[in-house]
Amino acid sequence: MSSETKTKFESIKNLSDKYLLNTYNRYPIAFSYGVGEMIFDQDNNGYIDFLAGIAVSNLGHGEADLIEALRNQMDKILHSSNLYYSEEQAKLAEVIIENSIPGKVFLCNSGTEANEAAFKLMRRHGINQNIEKPVILALQSSFHGRTLSAMSMTGNESVRSGFGELAADIHFVEANNEDSLIQAFEQYGGSVAGIIMELIIGEGGVIPLSHSFVNLARKLTEETNSLLVFDEIQTGMGRTGKMFCFEHYGMYPDAFTLAKALGSGFPIGALVVSKEYESVLERGMHGSTFGGNHLACVAAYETFKIILSRNLLDHVSTISEQMFHRLKQIMESTGKIKEVRGRGLHIGVELYSESRPVVEECLKRGLVVNSTAGKVIRIIPPLILSIEKATEGLDILESVLKEMK
Ligand SMILES: Cc1ncc(COP(=O)(O)O)c(C=O)c1O
Repeated sequence: MSSETKTKFESIKNLSDKYLLNTYNRYPIAFSYGVGEMIFDQDNNGYIDFLAGIAVSNLGHGEADLIEALRNQMDKILHSSNLYYSEEQAKLAEVIIENSIPGKVFLCNSGTEANEAAFKLMRRHGINQNIEKPVILALQSSFHGRTLSAMSMTGNESVRSGFGELAADIHFVEANNEDSLIQAFEQYGGSVAGIIMELIIGEGGVIPLSHSFVNLARKLTEETNSLLVFDEIQTGMGRTGKMFCFEHYGMYPDAFTLAKALGSGFPIGALVVSKEYESVLERGMHGSTFGGNHLACVAAYETFKIILSRNLLDHVSTISEQMFHRLKQIMESTGKIKEVRGRGLHIGVELYSESRPVVEECLKRGLVVNSTAGKVIRIIPPLILSIEKATEGLDILESVLKEMK
């Protein structure tokens, strides 16, 4: 950092510390702009982006077609209201449904809001079945968001605790433990209104769910007329080499949630509900002022168009194969890696030691990457990542790991 930039960074930091609530543990850097898979700080230092704003900027930074579509929309109108119809909403809903499951879409602004809507869908479905206390099942180590019902469905004590009573009748099952799943359905049987799960547990350490576990969840929910809901907020929009991760499992959920990369950086979330359950939430039961805002819908519609028209899904599979191959080599060359896991460009590298110091050192050397669940390095780059930058980024990771005590 030059002294001029240091002063600029210090002033940004001081202003932030003075006026922003101190809810985040931030790294000492302020990004200024991005180009493709590179992101730049105040001093024009470039960093390879293995984070994509936590699985948001799937198209990379400064995507020209996306920007043009947003500019055109900004010239027309930013916001009207859900009191009226919107062409942009209707077109987005159509493209979501045409690329996923027959059904309908509710639009909101974030992941936690999408999961709030899923929570209400499951609860309401239970109430419609005359269940006095509808039970919602969720997975241990999961993350679904920070609002009350989303945090109540989150299987991580550090997220859940400290705010008094949580939403009632939510119970947790151990991920990939079929006995635990069977036991929960035996215990709550006719009271289960639904189960929510990430197909790759993200924040909880990049843990892919096994096919047999997910298939069992499908079977048990069908048998009990309860809803199988997938949280595709991190795994959706091409991240795993399919538009949605459930496509790898060869089966359909009753509902799923989206956010993060849906708008390529413009905030938008969605709950997608299959045909069978599209009438559970009736007029007046849910809503949002901003949900499905004209600009947000254009961002999401254009995101679909770009992913599909540029064969980004195939690109993800190719790059992923090469990265997994290289990571296995780094595992051998460094002896610091316990396991490499994940799917597509949702990759977890579990170390034998804490991952945050590795991430801090990578940042100093020009690689932005994430630490989660204590010992896991999470690699979630833009889907457009080139093999050159993938290699450069992994070279940095390897050199940092080799030098770490
Ligand atoms: C799987 C999953 N669900 C929900 C959320 C919450 O999304 P948001 O931060 O947009 O509320 C996240 C965020 O990290 C997530 O990873």
